[in-house]
Amino acid sequence: MKIAITGKGGVGKTTLCAVLARLFVRSGEDVFAIDADPDSNLASALGYRQSALDITPLIRMKELIKERTGASPDSYGKFFRLNPEVSDLPEKYSVNLDGIRLMVLGTIYKGGSGCACPENALLKALINHLFVERDAVVLLDMEAGVEHLGRATATGVDAMIVVVEPGLRSIETALHIRSLAHDIGIKRVTAVGNKVTSDRQKRLIVEHLEGIPVLGFVSQNDALIDADLENRAAFEKNERLVAEVEKIKEQLDRTALSSRPTG
Ligand SMILES: Nc1ncnc2c1ncn2[C@@H]1O[C@H](COP(=O)(O)OP(=O)(O)OP(=O)(O)O)[C@@H](O)[C@H]1O
Ligand SMILES: [Mg+2]
Repeated sequence: MKIAITGKGGVGKTTLCAVLARLFVRSGEDVFAIDADPDSNLASALGYRQSALDITPLIRMKELIKERTGASPDSYGKFFRLNPEVSDLPEKYSVNLDGIRLMVLGTIYKGGSGCACPENALLKALINHLFVERDAVVLLDMEAGVEHLGRATATGVDAMIVVVEPGLRSIETALHIRSLAHDIGIKRVTAVGNKVTSDRQKRLIVEHLEGIPVLGFVSQNDALIDADLENRAAFEKNERLVAEVEKIKEQLDRTALSSRPTG
């Protein structure tokens, strides 16, 4: 199952990604958790004890990028391979955290044509490899938008989860993301409502999402603040959170099943 998690800043993407990763490992799956956020913190949400800064994002590995894309300093950004070999990278550059294989990618550079394209080529090829070639659960923690996903990768996405919180700004972002996702061919765009404190908020989220199916809700959860301060994984000592995300996972399993061709 291949899942891309997106949404406005601070809504809870990384937290959801970490708990889902844990639950998929618990049900016996081979799991890759991929951090593609510019402000990487999936490692700490997973309870990685050492400084999360220990893991160098792939996008900063200049030698590797040069080796794989053939971009030399003088040809930089002009001549390079668009389809670099990446199939060995998940094994070489992942950190195993209790069965969750974490990779920290860094973010796709945006902007004009002179932008650091060899880096983007490597990251996109890697994400495509994970989403299309690998038979594993892949959870991609990304920023708002679809920059990391191309059309080829989109075919591998079983579900895109847009995390929203009670508030119109994150919902507007979700609607925008849905249209970007549809443009590149991602069909299954779903939502999770996070930080909710009442049934009324749940109802309003559903109403405002204009038909984006809601997989489930996660309540406002103050124990997450303690987990953060004590440098614990988001899912440790937090039964309520785990139970709520378990329901979301069940919904995801159903969604993915129904998207598989039958017969
Ligand atoms: N249900 C919740 N209840 C209370 N706090 C939460 C909840 N979910 C997430 N948080 C807290 O909100 C903050 C942002 O969460 P998180 O890092 O998961 O969001 P994000 O969408 O990944 O943010 P960013 O856009 O910065 O990557 C964190 O401090 C997290 O502990
Ligand atoms: Mg995040």
